[in-house]
Amino acid sequence: MIIIRTPAEMRDWSLAARATGSTIGFVPTMGALHEGHASLLRAAAAQNDKAVASIFVNPTQFAPNEDFAAYPRTFDADRAMCEEAGIGVIYAPDANALYPEGYATYVNVEKVSAGLCGASRPIFFRGVATVVAKLFNTVLPHRAYFGQKDAQQCAVIRRMTRDLDFGVEIVEMPTVREADGLAMSSRNRYLTPEERQQALAISRGLFKARAMMEGGERDSLVLVNAVRNEMDALNIDYVELVDANTIEPLARATGRVLLAAAAWVGKARLIDNIQYEVPEQ
Ligand code: PAJ
Repeated sequence: MIIIRTPAEMRDWSLAARATGSTIGFVPTMGALHEGHASLLRAAAAQNDKAVASIFVNPTQFAPNEDFAAYPRTFDADRAMCEEAGIGVIYAPDANALYPEGYATYVNVEKVSAGLCGASRPIFFRGVATVVAKLFNTVLPHRAYFGQKDAQQCAVIRRMTRDLDFGVEIVEMPTVREADGLAMSSRNRYLTPEERQQALAISRGLFKARAMMEGGERDSLVLVNAVRNEMDALNIDYVELVDANTIEPLARATGRVLLAAAAWVGKARLIDNIQYEVPEQ
């Protein structure tokens, strides 16, 4: 396992790998890795000659009142999980290496960043797009792997990759869940056992709405209310039906739709979603 700490060394390694004709698969993460991350790590290792994972808790995607300082940091366990999944390189720079004194450049992906999580976390996607652009520029991957658990993030990264001509293939992987349906998240560690039980209302509501869509329901209000009813004991941030590519709100389900929910459960802000391809008439 190679551990790289600076952008210059990362870029040198990637240029050397490319020079020998190797393909590079890349999984950006913030560490505190779980089985959801592992599915991305394994796919990157299986589908490419070389596989790189980054572990970097990115300060520019956290607002001052958010959990940057408290975010779990578990490097030794993360390293073991990367190794087991077949990752050859961990890129773990420190914040000064990525954001030196005087740093002033940010990537804003308009429209897709505006709704859902972008509405309640106004600087979040600017931070995500900026750091992923920087990581793409140093890791120089052929393919990069993202989880549908963060569906709006996937839409933002797809848009940015196309708009800025990165030439990276974006691979989306399905959401990995606990046996009882809870979407895996590094932030689940913040939950007490009782809160963890309450958090199940999110996936329960989404699954119920998916069954309704499979049964022919297309009305956004009906679908959103079905999810809200399940979640009524939680502090809901949003429940919305949107177009999965543009993240624009829909009055009726059509095309590839994203039904997304966010809620506070104790100290944790949790998100989850389901996607559904509405069959053509
Ligand atoms: P992080 O939350 O660590 O997630 C890293 C990747 O793992 C993301 O693509 C995320 O969608 C995926 N992931 C997380 N939980 C998952 C689950 N239950 N099933 C499948 N995939 C899952 O997302 C970030 O980090 C950051 O915003 C980052 C892209 C690294 C930029 O800082």
